[in-house]
Amino acid sequence: MKRQQIVAGNWKMNKDYEEGRDLTKGIVDAMQPSDTLVILGTPYIHLMNVSRIIKDISNVHLAAQNCHQEESGAYTGEVSAPMLKSCGVGYVILGHSERRAYFHEDDELIAKKVDAVLANGMQPIYCCGEPLEVREDGKQNELVAEQVKTALFHLSKEDFSKIVIAYEPVWAIGTGKTASPEQAQEMHAHIRKLVREQYDDATADGLSILYGGSVKPGNAKELFSQEDVDGGLIGGASLKAKDFVAIVNSF
Ligand code: PGA
Repeated sequence: MKRQQIVAGNWKMNKDYEEGRDLTKGIVDAMQPSDTLVILGTPYIHLMNVSRIIKDISNVHLAAQNCHQEESGAYTGEVSAPMLKSCGVGYVILGHSERRAYFHEDDELIAKKVDAVLANGMQPIYCCGEPLEVREDGKQNELVAEQVKTALFHLSKEDFSKIVIAYEPVWAIGTGKTASPEQAQEMHAHIRKLVREQYDDATADGLSILYGGSVKPGNAKELFSQEDVDGGLIGGASLKAKDFVAIVNSF
């Protein structure tokens, strides 16, 4: 089965309104037609405008970087899944290691956010990955298995088929230190095996698993050429149109 190849940008807390518009236009203008699904993960303030700019380009979609688990109510400063949906959002990045570290999100909470995103007809990009100490102890497979099970394995097969997983070793995020293609492949194969055991072959073989952590134009090709690596979640390099498009063209 041919899996969907995906390159998703995670702008994090970067770009003011005009800069976000210029970056989006820069990406759209430089992109060649391709089968790769391109996802722009922007701060909330950009969603409406980016959604307008990309609306006629079938392989470019919009992601938010978080959402609240409740549909509405007295949660000052938060944004819900129905609100995102109303802005043209198709994907929501959930469980990013920065949200786990700075906003104390754990997999029980992330499971609720996954449900909210799915209930509103959008697709979660679920991030998992181990910190450096865990890798040094050789316990990364156990930790990632625990994350994936707690956040996702309550889902029905039908709902699980809408999930995208991003494996992002914490020690590789924003550090310039990339997992080797072999390390990425090993973890992606491990995740796919867990999904095969929990669901079935078709679900496991259809799941797109992205690698994230210091992906750049210079290393994307080798990472993406691994059997179980179906694309990337790109932080720093998604902030420059030229670099991001070069990564999209790495397939
Ligand atoms: P990076 O970030 O590409 O800057 O390492 C990746 C991410 O956090 O999604």
